[in-house]
Amino acid sequence: MNLYETMQDIQENLHKKGVFRCIKAKDQKGAFIYLDKKPYVNLSSNDYLGLAEDELLNEEFLDTLPFDAKRMSSSGSPLLTGAFNSYKRCEDLCFKLFNKHALFFNTGFAANSGVIKTLASLKNTLVIADKFAHASIIDGLSAASGKIVRYSHNDYEHLERLINKVYDDYDNIIVATEGVFSMDGDMANLQLLSSLKDKYKKLYLYVDEAHSFSVYGDDGLGLCAKAGLLDKIDFILCTCGKGLGSQGAFLLCNEVSKSYFINTVRPLIFSTAMSPLCFEHIAFMLKKLASFNDRRLRLQKISSYIHNALKEGGFDDLSESQIIPLLTYDNDSALKAYEFFLSRNFYAMPVRHPTVPLGKARLRLSLSASLKDAMVDDLVKAILDFKK
Ligand SMILES: Cc1ncc(COP(=O)(O)O)c(C=O)c1O
Repeated sequence: MNLYETMQDIQENLHKKGVFRCIKAKDQKGAFIYLDKKPYVNLSSNDYLGLAEDELLNEEFLDTLPFDAKRMSSSGSPLLTGAFNSYKRCEDLCFKLFNKHALFFNTGFAANSGVIKTLASLKNTLVIADKFAHASIIDGLSAASGKIVRYSHNDYEHLERLINKVYDDYDNIIVATEGVFSMDGDMANLQLLSSLKDKYKKLYLYVDEAHSFSVYGDDGLGLCAKAGLLDKIDFILCTCGKGLGSQGAFLLCNEVSKSYFINTVRPLIFSTAMSPLCFEHIAFMLKKLASFNDRRLRLQKISSYIHNALKEGGFDDLSESQIIPLLTYDNDSALKAYEFFLSRNFYAMPVRHPTVPLGKARLRLSLSASLKDAMVDDLVKAILDFKK
């Protein structure tokens, strides 16, 4: 078989297994997403606070934008010509908010894969990741020359056993976890993890707040800030394309690490920076972040309501957050669930093996503060009817 025949063959197999993926452009407006021009309530977006779809907010941003900031391309790596004034303003804003240094990346994926690779490649350094850590963290580990060690999901006894096993072999051990896990919607125990740092002096912590930055904490600074642990967590990854309703990502760390990453992380060094316009928007949203508490409270209220409905319906509820997996266990049932919810005007994507472990297929409900009460009530009815 030649190259293309091999590719075709693999894709036919994906089709046969019912897990072939494709990209379809879809319009979105307010809480709705459009399939073939028909509106469905969108339960698949990461716009948790409804900021990305807020037309008034977008207008305010565009109206207040200085003329010379309307530049669509940064035209270079941040190390060369790609860092404009808006870049520096975002760094300064982050320092003011977190009292940590921020390094910006084009995506969370680039940040995790690049930084984790660099960390795991350091001499006598081991990165141990939660079994459910995001693909970008795992890609970073795979790209490093060291070995890959993972602890069972949120199982800190297992983590400690692994730490004890290798403690004398390494100078540094970095534990990587997500704050809110992207597939199960449960959370890491950050207090417990940071207490391990008192016990094991060689330990460092890396927390991916992709699904918690903007959403948690009184001022939206995320779970590490909410737990009062900004000083104890060494590396915090915040994405701007999810809860913040913008684009890109930043890594929070200390000054020496930031400078080290600028000199070593390849997706940063060898990639054109986001446009000055993007940085203007991130700065605009960061300045407003504290004022979105009403949306955070609304999201919490909706999430509790849906969690209660799951309990009432006798579903296994893995989640503690706005990401709620409706477990169907097998892949076919996840597809059936997708069709069922579509028939009730909800768009929620099925997540199947191999994206999740075998027997853990689900419909992933991703809630947003922009859902209206009537939509939430209809969703509860749909969940209970689906169970029947
Ligand atoms: C936990 C987690 N980390 C990182 C990323 C990557 O972030 P980005 O979408 O900005 O590339 C994602 C994306 O879904 C994620 O779920």
